[in-house]
Amino acid sequence: MTPLNKKIIEDFNYALIKSFGEEFNNVDPQVSIAKDTRHADYQVNIAFSLAKKLKKKPQEISQIIIGNLPVSPVYETPSIGGPGFINLRIKKGYLEDQIKLLCEDERLGILKTHNSQKIIVDFSSPNIAKEMHVGHLRSTIIGDSLSRILEFIGHDILRLNHVGDWGTQFGMLISYLKEVFPNALYEANVLQIEDLVSFYRKAKKRFDEDIQFQEISREAVVKLQLGNEEYRKAWKLLCEQSRREFQVIYDILQIELTERGESFYNPFLEEIVNDLDKQKILEISDGAKCVFLEGFINKSGNPLPLIVQKSDGGYNYATTDLAALKYRINIDKAKHIIYVTDAGQSNHFAQVFQIAQRAGFLREETSVSHIPFGLVKGEDGKKLKTRSGETIRLKDLLDKSIYQARKNLENRLKTENREESQEFINNVANVVGIGSVKYADLSQNRNSDYIFSYDKMLSLQGNTAPYMLYAYARIKSILREEKINYAALENTQVILQDEAEIDLAKYLLQLNEVIEIIENTLLPNRLCEYLYELSKRFNRFYENCPVLKSVDSTKFSRLVLCDLTARTLELGLSLLGIDVLERM
Ligand code: ARG
Repeated sequence: MTPLNKKIIEDFNYALIKSFGEEFNNVDPQVSIAKDTRHADYQVNIAFSLAKKLKKKPQEISQIIIGNLPVSPVYETPSIGGPGFINLRIKKGYLEDQIKLLCEDERLGILKTHNSQKIIVDFSSPNIAKEMHVGHLRSTIIGDSLSRILEFIGHDILRLNHVGDWGTQFGMLISYLKEVFPNALYEANVLQIEDLVSFYRKAKKRFDEDIQFQEISREAVVKLQLGNEEYRKAWKLLCEQSRREFQVIYDILQIELTERGESFYNPFLEEIVNDLDKQKILEISDGAKCVFLEGFINKSGNPLPLIVQKSDGGYNYATTDLAALKYRINIDKAKHIIYVTDAGQSNHFAQVFQIAQRAGFLREETSVSHIPFGLVKGEDGKKLKTRSGETIRLKDLLDKSIYQARKNLENRLKTENREESQEFINNVANVVGIGSVKYADLSQNRNSDYIFSYDKMLSLQGNTAPYMLYAYARIKSILREEKINYAALENTQVILQDEAEIDLAKYLLQLNEVIEIIENTLLPNRLCEYLYELSKRFNRFYENCPVLKSVDSTKFSRLVLCDLTARTLELGLSLLGIDVLERM
């Protein structure tokens, strides 16, 4: 299936050359889906950007272009709207044929890319022995969805968990471990710390209160970094414990990613410093090795240095990211690297990218993008906290959503007088609870902060997971009553009559365009908006067009629309990492 917009673009490219000459080859005709569908389905806005160059009024330009367009099976004769945009209406017959093709297409019109690339998505990336917080949750949800979408388009995705498993905190942790569990290193291969986060807090308290302990901790870092066996073992035990705790969250969220933590790049840090030296961009300032950044200044207006090696020989977060970037380009052969972290790290990444370019290993053929996101806030607009004022644990946050989803379901079952098995209730609560947290996050433009509200995200009204899941389950129940005979599809024409069904059909054909926009913008909320609009259009169709009670050919066409809507919702939700329910 050739996407609708592609056909339009082809025709306009042809008409542009015919109208104004070869130099207009490959000029983007600016085809977009019409916002106001009363006059058009698609709008072409090229006339405005050509007006100056051609010294003609936009209306006149549009008139010439229209005169040179081939007669199209896709759209009716175009008209000119307002100051000069071209309005296009899709032909009904074409729409009917396309719906039939869409029905036979497992990918629902989404094309596989001709330009498959190796893409690394660096996401989640919590820090060992520290709390995995809502920021990491957001990174996990957005990163997973982007990976799914890019993978579906046909790219080769490597999902990397860049965990913070190396750093000065380990000196303190190992020293504390040796103090409270003196035998842990010799006896067990599994550490029996109930929970690493409170262990971290206790160690930190000990560290803050005792100068001698601080000294021991600093020595411990050095021992660890020099590869001392005992300290390495302690470090490993701590990492494994942390890993188990993170895995609980990944299992609940059904996330799969490859761990490749900061420590992995440790052997390559020295080389990075040498690279910078060779490029003559390394300078020594106050004993530290650094690079002076272009376009970043400090408070007194002087160029800002980025320290890559401290005066004590230790390396920084940025040095590790430089080594990781080089490795991902040279060894992993990534052509695009995407980093999903909070917006607070934007400068960090801009600096790392700049230095990698100046050092010569980040070149034109590789693109790097930092995909920032805003904060997750509580309903009071402040940092998300428990009632008693502590930070919320992710496990508790997810459990509570499932619990609340179960309560809502039980209430609904009561009012609907339905009896369901425990197994059914558990499954629905789980899918709705987790799906709602994911959807609430993904449906926001990731650049903005968002307010975390169980009531809102679990509501059956509005742009929420339950609304979408409910729409899906409802269609499935219609389809259960009447199975579509796919064999009949070949010989049967799809007929669209009512305005509401034509509207739905047009919308179903736009999925590929939405996915294309997401590939370019990496904004998953565009998919949520699409699915929400689709469900609304479906509801309008269902209110206006009887399905099961209509006569043969009409019934068949309408069942096809039901089926396509359900499949689109299912595919769309799966690209967001959300399961569907056949009944709920
Ligand atoms: N561990 C970091 C944090 O918790 C995030 C790492 C993001 N990835 C990277 N390559 N720097 O803030």
